[in-house]
Amino acid sequence: MLSTGHKGAYVRWSDYSSKLTEKFTCKYLRGEIQQMKDGFQRLVVGISGASGVIYGIRILEILRDIEEVETHLILTNAAKQTIGMETDFSAGEVEKLADHSYPIKDISAGPASGTFPCDGMIIAPCSIRTLSAVANSYSSDLLTRTADVTLKEKRPLVLMVRETPFHLGHLRLMQQVAETGGVIFPPVPAFYNKHKDLDEVISHTAKRALEQAGIEIEEMDRWTGPLG
Ligand SMILES: Cc1cc2nc3c(=O)[nH]c(=O)nc-3n(C[C@H](O)[C@H](O)[C@H](O)COP(=O)(O)O)c2cc1C
Repeated sequence: MLSTGHKGAYVRWSDYSSKLTEKFTCKYLRGEIQQMKDGFQRLVVGISGASGVIYGIRILEILRDIEEVETHLILTNAAKQTIGMETDFSAGEVEKLADHSYPIKDISAGPASGTFPCDGMIIAPCSIRTLSAVANSYSSDLLTRTADVTLKEKRPLVLMVRETPFHLGHLRLMQQVAETGGVIFPPVPAFYNKHKDLDEVISHTAKRALEQAGIEIEEMDRWTGPLG
């Protein structure tokens, strides 16, 4: 149930934990952990309802082509609306880009537990509402619970916070998350690469964010000094 290639498969924490008592599944869990040690990575991708849902979509598109990375997607209800307003994707099409996706209210899903084998989490974009919930451990849905679990387990948590301008309250929330170990990664484009178009800017920012979450990107446009 946790292996790659099962697009849209669904993992409940209750299913997962009850099976831990079975010999087969204990072996299976150990196998999963072993797989992660052997270069296999599992990342939770959250998409909230801020502007810039294309960043989360691009991240899923990039990871779809990296066989060693398994994606677990959580979309908020606002994200589903913003996807419809800002892109040509439907929420269902976005969900199909991930290996697994979960309903936002299912706090019994695997990623809600610290024992779920996972390498990190990225929320792209991250709304101020979601930032606030993460900063205050207000874990009322699966996205914010998983982010809190990621912090307490000391795994990388990258928040692509999108708002402008920020008031002092927003800045304080970001400070709180940074103090707890999260990475605040607003989608601020780099211009030194002389990108041809917005699409390239989006890809570059998505790849930079992924590297912050511990995913190595081979095809990364890197600055190597003015002489190239
Ligand atoms: C088109 C659109 C763009 C939005 N852009 C932002 C934004 O950039 N930042 C933000 O914090 N909220 C933005 N919002 C508002 C959030 O969607 C709203 O606060 C929502 O409650 C966030 O819920 P969530 O964190 O559960 O996704 C936007 C809403 C819409 C419809």
